[in-house]
Amino acid sequence: MTHRFRHLETTAVHAGMDGLTASGSHVPPIDLSTTNPLPTVESGGDAYEHLALGGSLEPGQSAVYQRLWQPGVARFESALAELERTTHAVAFASGMAALSACLIASTQRGRPHVVALRPLYGGSDHVLATGLLGTTVTWCEDQDEVAAAVRPDTGLVVVETPANPSCDLVDLEAVVASAAGVPVLVDNTFATPVLQQPARHGAVLVLHSATKFLGGHGDVVGGVVACDEDWAASLRQVRALTGGILHPFAAYLLHRGLRTLPLRVRAQQATAAELAQRLGAHAAVSRVLYPGLPGHDPRGVLGRQLAGGGSLLALELAGGYTAAARFVESCELATHAVSLGGVDTLVQHPASLTHRPVAPEARPGAGLVRVSVGLEHVDDLTVDLLQALDAALTPSTGSAPLAR
Ligand SMILES: Cc1ncc(COP(=O)(O)O)c(C=O)c1O
Repeated sequence: MTHRFRHLETTAVHAGMDGLTASGSHVPPIDLSTTNPLPTVESGGDAYEHLALGGSLEPGQSAVYQRLWQPGVARFESALAELERTTHAVAFASGMAALSACLIASTQRGRPHVVALRPLYGGSDHVLATGLLGTTVTWCEDQDEVAAAVRPDTGLVVVETPANPSCDLVDLEAVVASAAGVPVLVDNTFATPVLQQPARHGAVLVLHSATKFLGGHGDVVGGVVACDEDWAASLRQVRALTGGILHPFAAYLLHRGLRTLPLRVRAQQATAAELAQRLGAHAAVSRVLYPGLPGHDPRGVLGRQLAGGGSLLALELAGGYTAAARFVESCELATHAVSLGGVDTLVQHPASLTHRPVAPEARPGAGLVRVSVGLEHVDDLTVDLLQALDAALTPSTGSAPLAR
């Protein structure tokens, strides 16, 4: 993958579009073929073997079968790799399918142990905690614990920054040094390549739930891992054998989403930064968790590694579970729903939903609510979120709900 443009905005618009003009198209075609004609038995068989082992399509070769190779998926992958400043990327049917492929590939390399820094997205925490994919895990609560947790059979160090849902920040270069050669996987879903390019700081695998900012409109599920050629081959092999490839229509939507990514991320970030200030003054709020606020960046990664606070924030409500439930249920403009990174604002209670499977000692607090800030006007959002905070202050009447 060449990095042809000096500016990310240009890359976002033009990456992955090679050869289109010559083919007479202006936007990528959506090829829904599940199977592809084979010129001869011998060449078809060779192509099948090459792709099933994780190879990438050679010029003139048949793509054989959609689970092995899909041209629209490949276009999206090359665009994302260019944005993340890696040579390759491999796209999956969801963010969890992408993480699963990384864990399987790492185990396949003979290193089933994972060091994971909490907090992580609840689903990622869950798949690691269950050991469902044959991995074992050592949890770290602070990045300074990573070096001691790494063992000879450690295949991956997994971190998320900003982390879901507390927006904790990780100093990636320090983690890469602590990992002492073990590949570091960074979930870059919250930051997107617009604000942070972890490969520049030594990460070997950069993972996205593409469902979030990359798609950006709440209408497509996908995942992608940006990486080097060696890992791409391993991940493609896992994908071919386990069947987690992205659908061509999803690839089209994600590729289209990339074109407006820088604009959306920066506009949503500006609103989130303003809301972080405005909401913090409300009596229901004991603390606002947002990377741009004083005290939230102890390792000084803002400006050096992360170009801005992003558009996710969390509010700790003094009234605990009852106040949190009232807040999310009282929002009118913002939707009470999981997921994040789309054009409309979403609120949710992580301890009950996205982080429900996390062990109690590591689960977000009962009073914590997460806000994914969209593209609405900041004043309209302020009115809505403040009235929901007012509702959160209302004294409890009935029996208290079960605290989680
Ligand atoms: C940070 C993060 N990583 C990974 C995932 C999983 O992605 P998906 O839901 O696309 O499988 C999510 C989903 O919420 C997430 O927030």
